Amino acid sequence: MISFEKIRSLKGEITVPSDKSMTHRAFIFGAMAKGKTIVKSPLLSRDTIATKDALVACGVDFELKDGDMIINSKGYDSFLEPDNVINCDNSGTTARLLTGLFAPQRKYFFMTGDNSLRRRPMKRVIDPLSNLGAVIHSRRGFLPLMIQPSSMKGGIIEAKVKSAQVKSAVILAGLQLDEPVTYIEKDQTRDHTEQMLKYFGVNLDVNNGVIKVKEKYHLIPTEFTVPGDFSSAAFFIGAALMFENSEVVVKDVGLNKTRTGLLKILNEMGAKIDVLVTKEGGEPIGDIAIKFSFLDGGVIRGEIIPNIIDEIPMLGALGLFAKSPIEIRDAEELRVKESDRIKSIVYNLRVVGAEVEEYEDGFKVYPLKKVNDKGVLKSFDDHRIAMINILLSKRFGNFDIDSIESIDVSFPDFLERLKQIEIS
Ligand code: S3P
Repeated sequence: MISFEKIRSLKGEITVPSDKSMTHRAFIFGAMAKGKTIVKSPLLSRDTIATKDALVACGVDFELKDGDMIINSKGYDSFLEPDNVINCDNSGTTARLLTGLFAPQRKYFFMTGDNSLRRRPMKRVIDPLSNLGAVIHSRRGFLPLMIQPSSMKGGIIEAKVKSAQVKSAVILAGLQLDEPVTYIEKDQTRDHTEQMLKYFGVNLDVNNGVIKVKEKYHLIPTEFTVPGDFSSAAFFIGAALMFENSEVVVKDVGLNKTRTGLLKILNEMGAKIDVLVTKEGGEPIGDIAIKFSFLDGGVIRGEIIPNIIDEIPMLGALGLFAKSPIEIRDAEELRVKESDRIKSIVYNLRVVGAEVEEYEDGFKVYPLKKVNDKGVLKSFDDHRIAMINILLSKRFGNFDIDSIESIDVSFPDFLERLKQIEIS
């Protein structure tokens, strides 16, 4: 059990850890490319280390030098067969993307994960890869799974779930196949895979949600710098809107438009947010300045949901302080994240004293009328829920949290960075 002193507001400039999604991909592409790749300022957290360790088990050399990851690889045609089970730990991105990477390898791979990951669906990657000829056995669509040698072929895959992880798994398999693979998605999910592959010399044919991997590609080693993680920045953006009088600038954040739907929504709700783009190009980078403002509520649904998927719990917490309810719909994907994030956020907002309605595909938070005297916030072993709980605990000062260990998954030094801008 842990509790925090109440703080009044947040003031100052801050940076956030590097992007988790991009670090996973930079490690994977660096391992696929024959030669030396340098990944500058990668995120080193439990999730990305799981990806690195899996690639090391395939015979790829990873060396950390002054905060940069130096990857030396003989290329994906020379991966070794791991002689043990690959543990994806808590990381859905590791499990899904690596299933796509390993499926065409004509080797045996055994994969598992922690208690949370073993409850998260893998059928969403097993089915499309099997349609391309992969042979994957799983425990009823969940980890552990086994990939066995097969002859994969090309084909057309239509997205059944709005998931960048599934899209990336199919692309990773497609890159290794002689025949073309096409992936069709109706709602755009994050496109780091498509964007980053350009740095490795691969230009996919992307048109209106149709992504074509035309042939087998040999990735060219490169140097890639990972910017700050927008989803980690979201905790400071949200915090500045929870603590009155706050003025916060989050520096050097990745601003890929498939990730920043939260800024659009908060602007529409009346938040005072200014964005200064400091680097244009494939993946823009910039600074986000937030001043405390009272938010209007609203209903959020439809095609923006995949672009805010990891930020929805934070939006829910902001519902406590808005002038009218915040309602989220079409977000059933939240039920299969590190925890059932609809259940987790609804639970914690009720501990605080809010009236919250839970739906199969979302929730509705009413502005908080009276704070409860005390209670225990639960993190459900979910890093994003734990960080929201820390903010709620510091905002009200009278709630304990059962555990915050899970923040290691994406933001190991969250408390230290938050301290830099706290005013008590
Ligand atoms: C991720 C995609 C999202 C996101 C996850 C990371 C990625 O998952 O929630 O944190 O790196 O591709 P889905 O694409 O499965 O929704």
